[in-house]
Amino acid sequence: MALPAFTLKPKHDSPRKQVCDMTAILEAKGISRTYTLSGGMMKKSSKLQAVRDVSLYVNRGETCGIVGESGCGKSTVARILLGLEQPDAGQITLDGQAIASIPRAELSRRVQPVFQDPYSTLNPRRSILETVIHPLNVHKVGDAPSRDRRARKLLDQVGLPKRSFHAFPNQLSGGQRQRVAIARALALDPDILVCDEPTSALDVSIQAQILNLIQDLQRDLGVAMVFISHNLGVIEHVADRVAVMYLGRVVETGETRKLMQRPEHPYTRALLESVLTPDPELGLPDLDLGRSFPDPTNIPSGCSFHPRCAFRTSVCEDSAPEPRQIHGASVECHLAGNLGENRLATVD
Ligand SMILES: Nc1ncnc2c1ncn2[C@@H]1O[C@H](COP(=O)(O)OP(=O)(O)OP(=O)(O)O)[C@@H](O)[C@H]1O
Ligand SMILES: [Mg+2]
Repeated sequence: MALPAFTLKPKHDSPRKQVCDMTAILEAKGISRTYTLSGGMMKKSSKLQAVRDVSLYVNRGETCGIVGESGCGKSTVARILLGLEQPDAGQITLDGQAIASIPRAELSRRVQPVFQDPYSTLNPRRSILETVIHPLNVHKVGDAPSRDRRARKLLDQVGLPKRSFHAFPNQLSGGQRQRVAIARALALDPDILVCDEPTSALDVSIQAQILNLIQDLQRDLGVAMVFISHNLGVIEHVADRVAVMYLGRVVETGETRKLMQRPEHPYTRALLESVLTPDPELGLPDLDLGRSFPDPTNIPSGCSFHPRCAFRTSVCEDSAPEPRQIHGASVECHLAGNLGENRLATVD
């Protein structure tokens, strides 16, 4: 498969310190986000439906993966979950409370981001120790010596050597910078981390190290996570449950292990197939789905995946499928459960 699997630990290699309990710490209900694109001179503006009626939840101590191709709306969901962007419709709750009613400072303490490119989010003038102390200063947590101790402990936990504590971001490698970003995200002891492609900008060998680190931290600290990737192979290693997004919708969601063994949506099958090909590079998966590259300004009628689906029937062209429960997963496909064992669903 497309990941250096030999360097990655399997998801459940050791018992967790804190067993995840089955109450949602973060829940999104029916969120949608449409952007208006200005057409420029003499042209009409158009609507781009980035996220369409997405519902998902993350239980305490659990990782929920979000996977899908570029442009399917993953980062828009992440920004909405972080409270950085307002949805047009729907609601987000954190431990049962609407995030819209949670003060900004409290929300940013409890829900922390880890982004793809740590360099752009690290202040080049702050040493890495200062970087991790900074949020503790802003939120006035403890006194100066306790902030210093906590930051050093976290930097140690993410695997940075003591000699680098006074280095600046430009003196570190990409993987080390992502370790700093993770330590900073953990500084305020958040309820949940929202990780948006945290390994995609890194070399393949480093990606596996960072994925293992994230898993170790999650097991040891019990922090809940949303983990976004375009690669189902990555998601398999980190997520307990997964939501597969296509053109702004969650088309299949369920337990990662079951979903990997028995993908029901033709799109999930194609994603899985794309990571099962022996490709040492961790680039964008080649979905080989033929024509009709998805366009969020022009969502197809019926099932939005139908122009790329080899299994489509006239029903798929005419009516949008409702989510159906199949083998414990929720699947938006008219034909789910009847696709047989033929895993790949491509159009020539
Ligand atoms: N501020 C914006 N204004 C207009 N369109 C936007 C804006 N932000 C995102 N989009 C569009 O919304 C769609 C979803 O974007 P998003 O960044 O959420 O996708 P993604 O799944 O994260 O993609 P990638 O894997 O490339 O990061 C895309 O078509 C994108 O061009
Ligand atoms: Mg993105």
